[in-house]
Amino acid sequence: MKITKAIIPAAGLGTRVLPATKSMPKEMFPIVDKPTIQYIVEEAVAAGITDILIITNRGKGLMEDHFDRSPELEAALTKGGKDKMLEEVIGIADLANITFIRQKEMKGLGHAVLKAKSFVGNEPFAVLFGDGVIYNEGTPAIKQLIDAYGEFGEGVLGVKKVPEEDIHKYGSLKVEKLHDRIFKCTDMVEKPQTKEAVLSLYSITDRVVLPPSIFEILERTEPGVGGEIQLTDAMKEIATTVGMTAVEMEGSRFDMGNKFGVLQANIEVGLNHPETKEQLKDYIKELAKTL
Ligand code: UTP
Repeated sequence: MKITKAIIPAAGLGTRVLPATKSMPKEMFPIVDKPTIQYIVEEAVAAGITDILIITNRGKGLMEDHFDRSPELEAALTKGGKDKMLEEVIGIADLANITFIRQKEMKGLGHAVLKAKSFVGNEPFAVLFGDGVIYNEGTPAIKQLIDAYGEFGEGVLGVKKVPEEDIHKYGSLKVEKLHDRIFKCTDMVEKPQTKEAVLSLYSITDRVVLPPSIFEILERTEPGVGGEIQLTDAMKEIATTVGMTAVEMEGSRFDMGNKFGVLQANIEVGLNHPETKEQLKDYIKELAKTL
């Protein structure tokens, strides 16, 4: 079945990047000249997604404005003869059918995903975390997962290997290699707190493709780590019964909910951006001499 729907959970409070997130959603942090959420929407669209539901909360209205038309701005650009920018600005509003729903209480990622039940209906769907950018020049990360769904027909987890000292912050997976970057996943644990609880250093990273059966499981999932309804706890049921596929995604991953991730994103994308790359390269070389 073709995957055409995606959800983007973007209701998190972003406490790791305070005070920037006091009034500004982390999903609107710019990476050079585009907000984070636009990179994510463009990735989904490039993978064949046509319908996107962004899960927000109060205070995230800026995101809705970004994907809307902007008559005053368009008029000013038209008057100034800035046709290329005008086209780009209008294009943002036409990227996909984008709708929004609010998660009224922050009860965790699983709770946020459950908000998408009626939008998704009875189809497999993609999930892209609103603060996770996977940047590459080749196949978009979510397309790598959608391709694996086409091959194996089961839920797919986007994974990255994380350093041992960091695995306690993430979901750890029990995996067995099938080929290249593809694994079978038969178990998982959210934020393992002891060495014994770690299943591997492969961790779920910002992208998944899920069957609609996840909703029925989420509806009866009890709060887990941090008192939140954890998506990992619900996916574990699928992994341990029918199994899931894991794909080690190609691309640099920027965690925009983390201070260092914000810096990495701007440096790496800036070094590839036609308007900034030369100047930034010279700047970094000069700066490096002083380090
Ligand atoms: P994170 O744990 O990275 O986001 O959630 P957070 O809650 O903003 O993080 P802190 O406050 O810095 O620790 C992963 C994804 O799940 C979404 C977040 O927006 C992010 O995309 N999320 C998380 C929700 O949509 N709702 C929630 O209740 C929790």
